[in-house]
Amino acid sequence: MKAMDMGNRVSLAGALMALALATPALATPASAQDAKIDKNIDMAGAEARAAATVAKMSPEEKAAITHGIMALPFGPGVTLPAGAIIGAGYVPGVPRLDIPALTETDASLGVAYVGGLRHDGATGLPSGLAQAATWNPDVLRAGGAMIGSEARAKGFNVLLAGGANLMRDPRNGRTFEYLSEDPLLTGTLVGAAINGIQSNHIISTIKHFALNGQETARKEVDSRISEAAARESDLLAFQIGIEKGQPGSVMCAYNLVNGDHACDSDWLLNTVLKKDWGWKGFVMSDWGAVPGLQTALHGLDQQSGAQLDRKVYFDKPLLEAAAKDKTYAARLDDMARRVLTAIYASGIDVNPVKPGGTIDFKANSEVALETARQGIVLLRNRGNALPLAKTAKSIVVIGGGANTGVLSGGGSSQVQSEGGPSGMVSLGGDSPFAALMAENYQRSVPLKEIKSMAPGAKVAFRDGFTVSEAAEQARRADVAIVFATKWSTEGIDQADLSLPRGQDALIEAVAAANPNTIVVLETGNPVAMPWLDKTAAVIEAWYPGTRGADAITGVLFGETNPSGRLPVTFPASENQLPRKKIDGFAEYEANFIGEVPEARGKLKADYDIEGSDVGYRWFARKGATALFPFGFGLSYTSYASSGLRVNGLKASFTVANTGQRLGAEVAQLYLVSRAGKPIRRLVGFQRVPLAAGAKQAVNLAIDPRLLADWSDKGWTMPAGTYGFALGTDAEHVGPAVTVRFAARHWKG
Ligand code: BGC
Repeated sequence: MKAMDMGNRVSLAGALMALALATPALATPASAQDAKIDKNIDMAGAEARAAATVAKMSPEEKAAITHGIMALPFGPGVTLPAGAIIGAGYVPGVPRLDIPALTETDASLGVAYVGGLRHDGATGLPSGLAQAATWNPDVLRAGGAMIGSEARAKGFNVLLAGGANLMRDPRNGRTFEYLSEDPLLTGTLVGAAINGIQSNHIISTIKHFALNGQETARKEVDSRISEAAARESDLLAFQIGIEKGQPGSVMCAYNLVNGDHACDSDWLLNTVLKKDWGWKGFVMSDWGAVPGLQTALHGLDQQSGAQLDRKVYFDKPLLEAAAKDKTYAARLDDMARRVLTAIYASGIDVNPVKPGGTIDFKANSEVALETARQGIVLLRNRGNALPLAKTAKSIVVIGGGANTGVLSGGGSSQVQSEGGPSGMVSLGGDSPFAALMAENYQRSVPLKEIKSMAPGAKVAFRDGFTVSEAAEQARRADVAIVFATKWSTEGIDQADLSLPRGQDALIEAVAAANPNTIVVLETGNPVAMPWLDKTAAVIEAWYPGTRGADAITGVLFGETNPSGRLPVTFPASENQLPRKKIDGFAEYEANFIGEVPEARGKLKADYDIEGSDVGYRWFARKGATALFPFGFGLSYTSYASSGLRVNGLKASFTVANTGQRLGAEVAQLYLVSRAGKPIRRLVGFQRVPLAAGAKQAVNLAIDPRLLADWSDKGWTMPAGTYGFALGTDAEHVGPAVTVRFAARHWKG
């Protein structure tokens, strides 16, 4: 790799070298952004084989593979069948025809911990936002491949990974699981993750289809949006992700879309997904998202997590309907064919998974570490306060459980290494899922890493509960490092963008006591920073995963040159958002597993307010200035991009490292005007590692859907002049290059 030839002593090169050895996927050149999509998945061949098997199946056998249970040892009348593994779900196979059972686990961030019911440990990647902040599909592919290999070793052959919902509201409790607010970034990255997972010959899932934008009354809320806006935003993210990743399954969402349950939406499942996109795999429901038998006619192929629905519709009721009604009979065949297509395309029948495989946790933790390194975003660095000198004499570390571990997000995606969390803050309650409803800290301890990085320094720790005490310690130290956390979880949205438990006041007081105050954020969502101007430096470390503390410390002390860029806008205040509050947040109580019947039919999320202008596009439309814009991130070196040329749908330019250190720039190409009107859309990006003084030519292909609007059952590009510009983020773009396009319309 070029950077290493330069003999640069910055150990990012060392880290990349180590990683290149450990995970070949990351050693490939950045220019190969999409080159490694696995074209070997043969959906058409699998479909033909599936049709032949269906012809041999009895109706009961067909029905058996269209519904599954939640693979947990409780619930009315549930005993786990032999072969089921504790995890998210289980669907029996048909041994007579060599159809394997489906063993399902949550897996967006690693093989899930199931609220403490699994004790075998797994490698936890940083949160989805952290992964996306790398803007590096190779990192997501390597992460997916790693998770898939651990899942195989534990006996799982279907992963419920691939969260692709756009961040329509930063207060959504599941923001940390998802990737970004942009369809190109999300689609490209989720496709790479799925591709990595499925390289293990197992099935991956993309979820939650679609428009699952909030957790408040998540089973009742109706997402209202015009078809055009949906196609240009959330659906486009899924479309790109499916094209690139070719997942065997799609999980439909809890929420309603324009009046129909997502799992009962003929438009979403039959028209968009299966007809327009020509996708051949199977649609599984989210756990407890099936309103009735008719969902079979509207495109649902498999009912999941039976204990959570009112009834198992896809066994007896489906068989009875199929016996009487040809439409249901044809659907039953199609449902079984689609499940089998995914099984054969992934090869889980010929490469069966077996529990009890060995896992090299040390090697896998390198993947988590490199993801965290590339995903940490340096937000502020006054007077080059960072990197810290290893010769600092006294450091006080304050707050955030930095003496315990690093925070992780709650809910079904939760991952823990062997031994479980290093610390928990329970929300209480007597639900069997109580462990899911607790702040869980992963076993990677910032205080310990800081001590080993600065062996000559006196390093003190204060928990930050008493502000005056923390400020006093800060006054006595050369440097104060405040760890500030904000927990988020599936099932509960956030009231606002502030840091909880008085941490804003804590930071304010510490920064007043010591101007050399560094803030390390561990948050699952964007947060407001009323104290920003008083601090020396701020890094957003997200939920940084199994090796999070190493990654944070590496950035603090300059072993890693930060290269993450925000995949979401950090608003200056809630007033800048399309909605004052999450819809229904004040009216309905947070409810993780259960239902909120009083919200049914009443609660609507009006996504036509912003339409397809999600995130930075909304800010551009409103002329609003974010606290930190989408795409933003500082570095310990500097970059310059030049020579932009756009020829039809091809763009080329040069990126140079104009500073003194090895680093990686994330080149961002935006559409800035179209047919005489301002517009802002990310149309291409590439992460470019560069040694000090080096430059690299970058070529990007522009997906024409990003230049178009949805109208008349297809994509339409108006005739006229299109302006393109390189940006350091969505708000700061360089001079525009213009290109004329003729009017164009094509089917979606
Ligand atoms: C979540 C899904 C998850 C499923 C199985 C649901 O509550 O919404 O993302 O895959 O549970 O655990």
